[in-house]
Amino acid sequence: MTAHAPHPTRDRKPAAPVILAVETSCDETAAAVVSGDGTVEASVLASQHDVHGKFGGVVPELAARRHIETVEAVVAEAIRKAGIARTDINAVAVTTGPGLAGALLVGVSFGKALAYALHIPLIGVNHLEGHVASAWIEQPDFPMPCIVLVVSGGHTHLYLAGADGSYHLLGHTLDDAAGEAFDKAAKMLGLSYPGGPAIDKLARSGDAHAVKFPRPYLKKGNLDFSFSGLKTSLLYHLRDLDRAGTARPVPDLAAGFQEAIVEVLVEKAFDAVRRHGVKALAVVGGVSANTRLRALLAERAAAAGLRLALPPMAYCTDNAAMIGAAGRRAFLEGRFAPWDLEAEADLAFPAAGAPRAARVRTRAAMRGR
Ligand code: KG4
Ligand code: ZN
Repeated sequence: MTAHAPHPTRDRKPAAPVILAVETSCDETAAAVVSGDGTVEASVLASQHDVHGKFGGVVPELAARRHIETVEAVVAEAIRKAGIARTDINAVAVTTGPGLAGALLVGVSFGKALAYALHIPLIGVNHLEGHVASAWIEQPDFPMPCIVLVVSGGHTHLYLAGADGSYHLLGHTLDDAAGEAFDKAAKMLGLSYPGGPAIDKLARSGDAHAVKFPRPYLKKGNLDFSFSGLKTSLLYHLRDLDRAGTARPVPDLAAGFQEAIVEVLVEKAFDAVRRHGVKALAVVGGVSANTRLRALLAERAAAAGLRLALPPMAYCTDNAAMIGAAGRRAFLEGRFAPWDLEAEADLAFPAAGAPRAARVRTRAAMRGR
């Protein structure tokens, strides 16, 4: 394959494209088929939690290897479930970054080869753009402008999304991401990986006010976040309990820790809404699956008369349906990738003036784990 191979032109572009999407940025091998009207026809996921669980976090090399072993079968399963033939696909959308370099490379190479073999366009999708798109899958009429909060294992970013499709970064975490804080706390509490769902579950039987955790950065008067102090606070608390020979009230600690993160996320998101005078808020990314966060957001949005978009549970954590949704939009806007598209571990969002053909960076770019 060369960078100069003939590329399908926009002239052949159907108005209602069928998109095959591939996502391999971290520890889920995922494929999806999104139909011409934006309906998710199939979304298949092969989780790698069995591979990484015993290490308490994602091991990049193992992730890439498992993606290689699994991607073909996952894509075949998505096509089968959607009930289409390969020749029905109009474009392949693939995550180009940010994420783990080796893991991304598997999806990009596979997507590129498939698109080339089928003589259809290739679309590169920013993983964060995919998470954002997950909010509109069930609410295509969601009003713009709005505030978007992306909360995942690698990101805690607040954006102002404009009606013209622009994204303006308002604030972000200065250290740990919210999901990362959940994962690290879970590890300290001896819970299973990934930590977010484990804390979420255990917190339901705990008292969120039994142990008081700090609300970092809430009083700073800006829209940035910081969660590393919260983690340290838990560490000291556990140390004090252990020194005193007191049993750890794990459900209370999980509930208190969760409440601190959730409260900071909700306050900052609503602060952004107030500052920018918008009437809508979308919260996406793995942490948007959190039961307490969803409940508090719904409560506050109802009280403020605010339109709220949360992805369906299946599309909160990494999946390919969101990449297909973002890819469909790119297709309709004519944003296709060149054949020499590469993965970029540190791909920025929004990609202000970044070249379409990204680079794989040599340094190992772990997303905080
Ligand atoms: O979006 P995602 O699947 O991957 C990244 O792009 O990072 O997010 C994964 C993160 C993990 O840190 C995981 O612990 C967290 O999302 N997470 C949760 C929940 N489900 C997943 N955090 C809190 N509560 C949950 N229910
Ligand atoms: Zn993600």
